[in-house]
Amino acid sequence: MNGRLVFDILKVTEAAALAASNYLGRGDKNEVDDAAVKAMRKTLNEMDISGEIVIGEGEIDEAPMLYIGEQVGCGTDKIDIAVDPIEGTRMVAMGQNNALATIAFAEKDSLFHAPDMYMEKLIVGSKGKEAIDLSLPFEENIVRVAKALGKKVEDLTIVTLAKPRHDNIVKCLQKMGAKVYSIPDGDVAASILTCDASNEIDLMYTIGGAPEGVLSACAVKALGGDMNARLVKRTIAKGSSEENIKLECVELSRCKKMNVDIEKIYTLDELVKSDKVIFSATGITKGDLLEGIKKIGNEMLTETLVIDGINNKKYLVNTTHKISDE
Ligand code: FBP
Repeated sequence: MNGRLVFDILKVTEAAALAASNYLGRGDKNEVDDAAVKAMRKTLNEMDISGEIVIGEGEIDEAPMLYIGEQVGCGTDKIDIAVDPIEGTRMVAMGQNNALATIAFAEKDSLFHAPDMYMEKLIVGSKGKEAIDLSLPFEENIVRVAKALGKKVEDLTIVTLAKPRHDNIVKCLQKMGAKVYSIPDGDVAASILTCDASNEIDLMYTIGGAPEGVLSACAVKALGGDMNARLVKRTIAKGSSEENIKLECVELSRCKKMNVDIEKIYTLDELVKSDKVIFSATGITKGDLLEGIKKIGNEMLTETLVIDGINNKKYLVNTTHKISDE
């Protein structure tokens, strides 16, 4: 994979973020997703790559999608691509914080292939590397991470998503004395924050989307952190409604087709096999990780984080876009 893709990848998330921002606060998730997907697809197809979408979103909420197996680009450099054109479609539609456009490029055949279902994710920064193990009881993981970080459990800060499926974990953590931040949406940004020593997040535990899980794994791998993951059946994540039972059957048959083991705990090196990985996220609405898009006169300002696992570098890129050029 060519290292200069670092300078191209940010154009993909910038384009998706700018397109989605036209629908900010207008209440329609599908319009947001549709605009971002179209912009992302167009930018990818202009790039000198031969990319395959190996994990992406779409069927979970029947939004338009960059579908698994889709080929993009007009070059010969073969790469795997993980996408979540909008990480937080609801946040964009409702004008809430923390929405991003995200993508990751990785060496061919190095990314975990899975359907777009739910995934349990445990993520820690570099100091906690190898302290996490989803096969162990959750409490034991907390004690191991505290030890690795040289902290007391009471001094740990754990981030999760504020969803009913996490209620027991939140209670358990609070009983242990740890601090829990429950954010409404957006576990990709939260994953990256665990690997950033300048903020207080030590650990992330969520059951969220698998595409978001693979994107997080790309960023975490390039930042030297650690992750364990396991796919989760829809009825466990969302309850046993008739619709969820039907969707779960489809997910399970897709897992079978893709030869994915639903019971297996995947390590970071199984989720992302190569260090040759590049991740990009552009802020749409203001968040803990990135600034949101700002409109000043006839210009739009974007902030993008590019994490380059090939050269071990991070770039924070502020770009001014003339509205007439977009
Ligand atoms: P999308 O907007 O891309 O669907 O993701 C937002 C998000 O909060 C993710 O960060 C998280 O992984 C997933 O949704 C959780 O799923 P759900 O909202 O269905 O519980």
